[in-house]
Amino acid sequence: MEISITQALPAELKQKPDENALGFGAYFSDHMFVMRYNDGKWHSPAISKYGEFSLDPAAMVLHYGQAIFEGLKAYRGKDNKTYLFRPKENLARLNRSAQRMCMPELDIELVYKGISTLLGIDRDWVPSAPGATLYIRPTMVACEAGLGVRPAKEYLFFTILSPVGAYYPEGFNPVKIFVTDKYVRAVRGGVGEAKTAGNYAASIMAAVEAQSQGFTQVLWLDACDRQSVEEVGTMNIFFVIDDEIITPPLNGSILPGITRESVIQLCRDQGRTVTERAITIDEVFQANDEGRLQEVFGTGTAASISPVGSLFHKDRECCINHCNTGPLSQQLFDDLQAIQYGYKEDPYGWVSCLGD
Ligand code: COI
Repeated sequence: MEISITQALPAELKQKPDENALGFGAYFSDHMFVMRYNDGKWHSPAISKYGEFSLDPAAMVLHYGQAIFEGLKAYRGKDNKTYLFRPKENLARLNRSAQRMCMPELDIELVYKGISTLLGIDRDWVPSAPGATLYIRPTMVACEAGLGVRPAKEYLFFTILSPVGAYYPEGFNPVKIFVTDKYVRAVRGGVGEAKTAGNYAASIMAAVEAQSQGFTQVLWLDACDRQSVEEVGTMNIFFVIDDEIITPPLNGSILPGITRESVIQLCRDQGRTVTERAITIDEVFQANDEGRLQEVFGTGTAASISPVGSLFHKDRECCINHCNTGPLSQQLFDDLQAIQYGYKEDPYGWVSCLGD
């Protein structure tokens, strides 16, 4: 399918923000990639000026929440080229989310072509400042007007680009995490493993409460006994106990993170022991009491590798590695960034280079 391109006029191009004060998700580039679905097929792929959509008030996404998205990043290498990290893995996950939410799947090659063409047009938006990247947000929503609860027959797919800095205000410094047993994020058989908007909506109240008490994020426990660790709202979680790297298994209620999978592979290839198994919050605190908990860190596209300095659960505080970044978190951050920015050879074929 041919992708039509209508570029903004030079006078319509936006002023670029200060790359050293981007925050996360506050600015958007000049163009976007849009496609529509009806009569059982995707059609009219187009790149055009970034701008508003008009939606019918009965658009089904506004009522029943058929909305899925992805998050990936474009990195500017020292050679000025643009690098993407495992982009087709994100698109494959988008299709798995689509299946779960009864939404139509996308042609991964076509979407990849649309996104790489969009990045070519908006390449000046890929920041060069240290730690800054261009966040890519492919999204699909149900736009058919209708109030019956059923899969919509019409969808809108779009991709927008946002220059971003670190996701957390702490940057790469250790974050303070609140372990909630008041709220749950997802249940087995639910939609926890789909990247669907409702999962994030459901997480906001716990995050607001935690932030009002000075915490950065919430760690979710399983919905049944509120003991097994699941994930942090915007990242997967890893514990290092007695030199074993432990992360909860993908049991259906956890988001299957691409950074998570990459970190598991990097660690195993460095000869480290990684175990995907259920781990309870009591086990974590006990390991800390016994001096065996060495590090805790989160992984995610937005968060990259985020060291956890302390965990709070039921009035108990567990301070990890004296609340400092541990050596493994630091090494994984460096190793991953070196691959993502094209600084070092990528033995895995994870990186796509889009030219300059
Ligand atoms: C990401 O890591 O890309 C996410 O989607 C997490 C969050 C910003 C929603």
